[in-house]
Amino acid sequence: MAGFIINGGKTLTGRVIIDGAKNSALKLMAASILTGGRTRISNVPIIEDVLTMAEMLQGLGVKVRADQKEKILEIDSSNINNPEASYELVRKMRASILVAGPLLARFGQVKVAIPGGCNIGSRQIDLHLKGFESMGAIYSIEHGYINCHISRSKGGGRLKGAVIDLDFPSRGATENIMMAAVLADGRTIINNAAMEPEIDDLVKFLISMGADISGQGTASLTIEGVDCLSGTDYSVMPDSIEAGTYIAAAGMCGSDVIIENARHENLEIFFLKLKEIGVDIDVVDENTVKVSSPEKRGRATNVSTLPYPGFPTDLQPIITVLLSTAKGVSIVTENVFENRFMYIDELNRMGANIKIDGHHTVIDGVEKLSGAPVRAFDLRAGAAVVLAGLIAEGVTEVSDIFHIQRGYSDIAGKLKGLGADIRVVK
Ligand code: EPU
Repeated sequence: MAGFIINGGKTLTGRVIIDGAKNSALKLMAASILTGGRTRISNVPIIEDVLTMAEMLQGLGVKVRADQKEKILEIDSSNINNPEASYELVRKMRASILVAGPLLARFGQVKVAIPGGCNIGSRQIDLHLKGFESMGAIYSIEHGYINCHISRSKGGGRLKGAVIDLDFPSRGATENIMMAAVLADGRTIINNAAMEPEIDDLVKFLISMGADISGQGTASLTIEGVDCLSGTDYSVMPDSIEAGTYIAAAGMCGSDVIIENARHENLEIFFLKLKEIGVDIDVVDENTVKVSSPEKRGRATNVSTLPYPGFPTDLQPIITVLLSTAKGVSIVTENVFENRFMYIDELNRMGANIKIDGHHTVIDGVEKLSGAPVRAFDLRAGAAVVLAGLIAEGVTEVSDIFHIQRGYSDIAGKLKGLGADIRVVK
């Protein structure tokens, strides 16, 4: 299995370009099922999760042509012949569940494997299913699969618009329900909807296909169902979490690192926290920032994750690395997932002093980290140990890097381009 070998202590400098957002691209790919036409998606990050989603679409009968060099996908959903998402693929990537809404909307039925837990928590899908049910679908769970179809007693044919109040602003549920609602009969209102910028990107994509959606950027989305949607040509927004990862790397050991395609309006709270730590962030223009680390160790601060516009849970492991060597005690609270601290033991193996107390961590900043063999437990936990390796004294060996490759395109190449001493080994 492949790993990274990082020789820590190098100063990063130069430029890095951020790719398209994973958590938007995957949804746009799923949404392309909603049309019998052709869809062209550009600025697609070339990462494992995108390739898995392409494989899933192909399994349904969708034609997907990928130009990896140009980062473009051409998707033809005119001949879908199998509305079933297999366990093999759903297990690999939970976002596969997002084909359920589009398949249900277009074909009136879907069979999709139950995703199950993952390394960051149990990750329910009850809100997705309740939403479909409110729109007239019925579902049953058998042999690890959800079978869902539109109830004949409710008219069959099309889903019916409904008012859906989410108990929690789940991104996945908001996206799945919205994709189901665009082809439903009548008006759907999703209250307490997630507001992450990637939801906005999906709204824009659907509107470009002919959907009628209002309330964009707010917690209440109104969707007027239309009879059909057409193909479209759309460019994925930049990845804020990838940007946040490189900004944090520069904030730990960077000198004038320029980060391009960093849509920083989406990173307000993250920037606020980095400034509290003492990171020097210079906004060059709306898509570019210049970042340098504090001359000495940064300052401690407290962080609490919440749905957007709160502090993103995906950047929780990343900022923890910065705080692990800050002066003083920081408290980080995880409010979105119940099990997102598995990487803490890895940081402690590198000399950090972090204690876990329920959904809080107490970080007593240490003078320095030291290189050690560590594992990537999940995507962002993996990125966190890579960043720790950049500032640690000596050599850090990161194993299980397939988790990192699921969501970061060429992280070793990009860090190397900034002057890091990192290489991939088999
Ligand atoms: N939840 C429920 N019931 C549901 C849906 C969610 O209880 O029906 C709970 C979950 O168990 C979790 C919380 O609500 O505790 C948040 O889940 P949400 O549905 O918002 O997350 P998601 O759509 O499964 C996406 C991203 C994650 C990101 C979260 C939160 C994708 C493919 N994934 O997951 O990204 O952490 O939103 O912002 O969009 C990552 O990129 O590393 C990653 C994990």
